[in-house]
Amino acid sequence: MKPVSILVMNGPNLSRLGKREPEIYGSLTLDDINRGLADAFPEVTFEFFQSEYEGALLEKLFELEDRGGCSGVVLNAGALTHYSIALRDAISAVIMPVVEVHLSNVHKREGFRRTSVISEVCVGVIGGFGADSYHLGVQDLLKRVEKE
Ligand code: DQA
Repeated sequence: MKPVSILVMNGPNLSRLGKREPEIYGSLTLDDINRGLADAFPEVTFEFFQSEYEGALLEKLFELEDRGGCSGVVLNAGALTHYSIALRDAISAVIMPVVEVHLSNVHKREGFRRTSVISEVCVGVIGGFGADSYHLGVQDLLKRVEKE
């Protein structure tokens, strides 16, 4: 089996999971989600990163790319999904495939959440399955590595 390394990157407010609107985002913390991924996919080398700052997410992508990249990125950009052209441009600028994920079904919520400025430059979009959205994102990246 080929070595697989995946960056799981979370944007603003996702550090508050567990406390933040549990009726929408569930009761798991971000650490719980990350631990769940590491347990479910022992064959994957994960890097986990979260920031409240747009620029920090861009810097993380570029730093990783400059280190030689990874098999792919599972990205929950939070609200940046809906308006960050800078994040969109950064995703376009890197070679690594990026899967857009959301805990909630953004299409069932406020109208402004139906717009994603990053979907077009991501390899796919997964939303509405809680922590499983991240697991499905990792599964997709594993399949991509197998096909290479
Ligand atoms: C989210 C959905 C976004 O609209 C919101 O701003 C978030 C979380 C989700 O995981 O469902 O912060 O990305």
